[in-house]
Amino acid sequence: MSADRLWIVGAGRLGLALGLALHRSGAVASLAYSGRRAEPTAHPLFDGDPPPATYSAELRAPAEAPTGIVLAVPDGAIPAVAAVLAGLPLAPDTPVLHASGALSVDVLAPLAEQGHPVGGLHALAAVADSVAGAERLRGATFGVEGEGEARSLALRIVEGCGGRAVAVPSDGKPLYHAAAVFAANYAVALLGVAERLMGQAGVAPEDARTALAGLAAGAVENVAARGPAAALTGPVARGDAETVRLHLARLSGADRPLYSLLAREALALARDAGLPPDAVARIAERLEEAT
Ligand SMILES: NC(=O)c1ccc[n+]([C@@H]2O[C@H](COP(=O)([O-])OP(=O)(O)OC[C@H]3O[C@@H](n4cnc5c(N)ncnc54)[C@H](OP(=O)(O)O)[C@@H]3O)[C@@H](O)[C@H]2O)c1
Repeated sequence: MSADRLWIVGAGRLGLALGLALHRSGAVASLAYSGRRAEPTAHPLFDGDPPPATYSAELRAPAEAPTGIVLAVPDGAIPAVAAVLAGLPLAPDTPVLHASGALSVDVLAPLAEQGHPVGGLHALAAVADSVAGAERLRGATFGVEGEGEARSLALRIVEGCGGRAVAVPSDGKPLYHAAAVFAANYAVALLGVAERLMGQAGVAPEDARTALAGLAAGAVENVAARGPAAALTGPVARGDAETVRLHLARLSGADRPLYSLLAREALALARDAGLPPDAVARIAERLEEAT
């Protein structure tokens, strides 16, 4: 299996982090980027003589014909970029992937019409930085959509990252992505709420962040090892309705309904884990009282 000459359109967080991960593992023969800025952002891929990657501010095919193309532009820009690529003199058997989790492969229809194998390669990783993100991608799980050569390219990239591929059916993409958003983005949003509440309780912000991040990391590890129902701890898991009542009495504004909604989800898990029906009913009553 020969290494790919990869053309990545979009020199942002995901595109650069992915290229860096693949460069570090020696999984690509060459890396070319296209972006819309005159100059790329400073990045190790563009340092050195010669640098590991080339950059063009124009959307034109690299001098050496690519063996694979990845669109790493924001979801909203994918249709326009796909339309431009479809008009370029590319070998029609060159597979093209996009990096979106929510959009299906249908968004690459103009390229499929030209004969390109098309697919999706979505990293289930939070890439907040184009350098540190390369480490997030190492060993990550990737949602892969598409067949044939598109799938083969996706699998070579996943392998180059030392990752794991899960197949995602095209019509499942929005729900698959909503699940990822719950697990990553909304977990972060909840930690934001928790940090604010601890601050209101009088705990110093730096202490709160360390404490809560450590607490959350332990809970996530328990979920990975045991599944959500067995991993649930806390007042709902214990059937401690009095503590739930105390929390609700002190929470205000939007925090109260948010707590109640999440407590109902936790209660369903606690029931699955074997919480006796009378304890489930007592907690449900407290939640009912609070609405
Ligand atoms: N970040 C993550 O954690 C993550 C994880 C999985 C999947 N993804 C997916 O990866 C894709 C990119 O996300 P991102 O987080 O890397 O976004 P990002 O950091 O905003 O990077 C997007 C890049 O695309 C460039 N761009 C926008 N329109 C373009 C065009 N028409 N032609 C060429 N370049 C263009 C942007 O240029 P400017 O800098 O000039 O705006 C930017 O450099 C999205 O589909 C996203 O869903 C992201």
